[in-house]
Amino acid sequence: MKDRVRKILGLLDSPVDALVLANAVDPHLDRSFFYLFDVPSGLFEASVAIAHPDGELDVVTSPLEAESAEVAAKSDPHIRLHTAGRDESAPLIQKLLGSASKVALNFAELTHAGYVQLEKIRPGVTWIDASKAIRQARATKDANEIERLRKASEIGSKVGGEIPGLLRPGLKELELAAEIEYRMNRAGASGPSFSTIVAFGPHGAEPHFQPGSTRLETGASIVCDFGAYYRRYASDITRSFHFGKRDAEMKEVHDTVEAAQRAALDTIRPGVRANEVHLAAERVIDRSRWKGRLIHGVGHSIGLAVHDGWYYGPKIEDPLEEGMVFTVEPGIYLPGKGGVRIEDDIVVTRTGYEFLTTAPRQYLEVAA
Ligand code: GLY
Ligand code: MN
Ligand code: MN
Repeated sequence: MKDRVRKILGLLDSPVDALVLANAVDPHLDRSFFYLFDVPSGLFEASVAIAHPDGELDVVTSPLEAESAEVAAKSDPHIRLHTAGRDESAPLIQKLLGSASKVALNFAELTHAGYVQLEKIRPGVTWIDASKAIRQARATKDANEIERLRKASEIGSKVGGEIPGLLRPGLKELELAAEIEYRMNRAGASGPSFSTIVAFGPHGAEPHFQPGSTRLETGASIVCDFGAYYRRYASDITRSFHFGKRDAEMKEVHDTVEAAQRAALDTIRPGVRANEVHLAAERVIDRSRWKGRLIHGVGHSIGLAVHDGWYYGPKIEDPLEEGMVFTVEPGIYLPGKGGVRIEDDIVVTRTGYEFLTTAPRQYLEVAA
């Protein structure tokens, strides 16, 4: 992980004496902690990683995760592991920071309580915000990360391809969501990468709808948005269907979303600005009858988190780089009627992109 420490520190505007990543209590865990400390299992609540300019890493963990922590520490000679009980942690961190006077923190993830605690441990230190450097470092994935993302996407794709066979009248949204998550775990996921979205009929008009006890009826549109965690890396895939015969409007909506996704994908290669990807999809939708019905950015980076830091919106001008992994997910949302979203995960290659998700995306009508 020495390379990753150096990658982050090298992206800071000025040198620091240390970088501290501190976890609070679940869900306030900084995924960047796991970027530097690649543990196979465990929550690591209240654990702290202290990275030094020479690439060495001190990790302070609790006895709860001692076994997992030792596995990770043994595989990397640049990691020094310290196990500390609740009362021993603060003096240990103080000691490990030595005479550091300029220390970087991940402002985007550190809780305010965690910050106050660090101020008490080391008053007088100048704290630097490392969140931009961390986000940038994590944006381009190494081969190990891409392999995990590929596997997470394969799991999502496998289950995505099985959904049409699961649909039957009377099925509840929550039952389908549970089936999707169960099948992902059976295929090797360690869990869902976010709460599975299953939206029947008008519910599909809300991109982040939370499934309930609504039952599937013939003629309903269906949006399923889900993803797997595999060795801490997330996939994120959406497939939209229609249960029974679709009307002419929903067919046209689906065709338009497909065309929008194709237009966005066609722009992807290193050097292209993120907003060009977004605008390519938006143009297709805005030239159709559903102008203005793309109500979110057309994608986001994925990695240790399903929303991994970068968003592809109309104003984001950062250029794409080889090794970035993100979603391409245009949608059209029709309040009172339903929605269609098609979402795939891709990796930017030297000359373009490669799909990580492969589930069929063309079909829509499923026999009721
Ligand atoms: N799963 C939420 C999203 O697609 O961003
Ligand atoms: Mn997404
Ligand atoms: Mn999604």
